[in-house]
Amino acid sequence: MNAPDSLWFKNAVFYELPVRAFYDWNGDGIGDLRGLIDKLDYLQWLGVDCLWLLPFYPSPLRDDGYDIADFRSVDPDYGTLEDFRELLDEAHSRGMRVLADLVFNHTSDQHPWFQQSRSSPASPFRDWYVWSDDPRRFPDARVIFTDSEVSNWTWDPAANAYFWHRFYSHQPDLNFDNSAVRQAVMDVVFYWLDLGLDGFRCDAVPYLFERDGTNCENLPETHAFLQALRREVDARYGGARVLLAEANQWPSDVVRYFGQTGAAPGVAAAPEFHMAFHFPLMPRLFMAVRQEARRPIVDILTQTPAIPDNCQWGLFLRNHDELTLEMCTDEERDYMYYEYARDPRMKLNIGIRRRLAPIVENSRREIELMNVVLFSMPGAPIVYYGDEIGMGDNIYLSDRNGVRTPMQWNVDRNGGFSKAPPERLYAPLIQNPIYSFQAVNIERQFQDPNSLLNWMRTLIQLRHRNPIFGLGAIAFLAPANERVLVYLRRLPKSAAPADLPGARCVLVAANLSRSSQAVELDLSNFAGWTPHEMFGEVAFPAVTTTPYQLTLGPYGYFWFRLDPPGGQFE
Ligand code: NOJ
Repeated sequence: MNAPDSLWFKNAVFYELPVRAFYDWNGDGIGDLRGLIDKLDYLQWLGVDCLWLLPFYPSPLRDDGYDIADFRSVDPDYGTLEDFRELLDEAHSRGMRVLADLVFNHTSDQHPWFQQSRSSPASPFRDWYVWSDDPRRFPDARVIFTDSEVSNWTWDPAANAYFWHRFYSHQPDLNFDNSAVRQAVMDVVFYWLDLGLDGFRCDAVPYLFERDGTNCENLPETHAFLQALRREVDARYGGARVLLAEANQWPSDVVRYFGQTGAAPGVAAAPEFHMAFHFPLMPRLFMAVRQEARRPIVDILTQTPAIPDNCQWGLFLRNHDELTLEMCTDEERDYMYYEYARDPRMKLNIGIRRRLAPIVENSRREIELMNVVLFSMPGAPIVYYGDEIGMGDNIYLSDRNGVRTPMQWNVDRNGGFSKAPPERLYAPLIQNPIYSFQAVNIERQFQDPNSLLNWMRTLIQLRHRNPIFGLGAIAFLAPANERVLVYLRRLPKSAAPADLPGARCVLVAANLSRSSQAVELDLSNFAGWTPHEMFGEVAFPAVTTTPYQLTLGPYGYFWFRLDPPGGQFE
């Protein structure tokens, strides 16, 4: 055990998956909970500590389940509540935890709350949504789905009024000014936590409240509600349940969602989320590799304020959405589009709808490099299903569906995903020669000791053996060669339990360029220490007071455990 149980998430490896895309147990062409249960052994083998399930609630699926029509059950396509309970039991019995996506900023327009709300001004649900006669209210709130929406207001002829929505116009925002809404949301949270769920990935949390004269994001009222939610969760379930914030914001705004350092002007400090995604880091990892320069990564992490010890960043390369460029400057965005989205079909809203492997042109070296950096940065890494084998995407599918195609298990019909006739699948499998299921699949890579899959597993194991990556501090070195990213991770003995396994000091060097690079490091503070390369357990020459010389192949990397003379740490 490397951290108190309540801090399990600080060192966990997360795995994000849509139930629909993972494995179809009943042969209807759609992945289901029983299918996922069948594949838990695989996820355990891979070393996953916690699953993050995309929304599985009943939904018209006009936003792939982020349009919830009933918060308290499972969409029949995926199974039953009983299946869900069994999934929790089976995951827990393998030492895995489960987070569910929860969307409480908005509902589907098919949700009975909205149907009643729109039915009459006298309805007790009228005030559960945000209605107005004037679609010019809140003019400073940006439109998020820029490719499909022109306004955050949509006219509803049934209600004879406009309703407010930050996303699709079939996703009306709930009115958090209404205490009945706040209570209903809390009750949904308790309902699932009572079933034994380990926590939630909370969708779209910056947008809960609206106020005139603001951009309606990150408002003090929103933070106050989130603090109340956390208070209730801690009070009812103790400390081990986890709330993970989806707040696609700049670092200085995101850290407020941890709550403890002062949530917002006028809101006293109190805990909100245990975890939050680091959105701005993600595009900069891709930028740095293409520019062959460490600066974008160093800059954004240097600008990132410290977070409380009992919180953690969620770090990711790709997820189920477009690779968002919202947290980029105009110049950075243009650069990313130019480099990574030359075909207009690759763009969506303010982002790039592609998977990891195709983005880096199926370069195994780049995939390894990016994961090595991700897994050694302060935070908990999140792997998107299929990226562990380098699955491809399909930019001819609409919306973000091209990165949500069926998991490729083997060379059987439908890639082993389903026994249904291929025409019946919820989405076609990837067919092209490079990424098709015949070429890229779990079974094949499982058998190949040199596969990406087996390499990812080794990476996960190394991360598990070295909790320093989740717990230690980071300090960047500034060697003259800008193409090489170098940082130290340190965990003073005083800051960690005596029985904590693994390294106490790690030096990471990552060559962000396509050509070999030499770099000289000033490690004079470590004179006499011995670097051990961690993937192969190979001792390198001891550090002296003269510059330490390293050469790295194209996209090469090192993780060095630095051992002090005599092996004694302070
Ligand atoms: C963020 C989710 O990740 C995305 O898939 C969804 O469309 C929006 N929130 C709206 O719920």
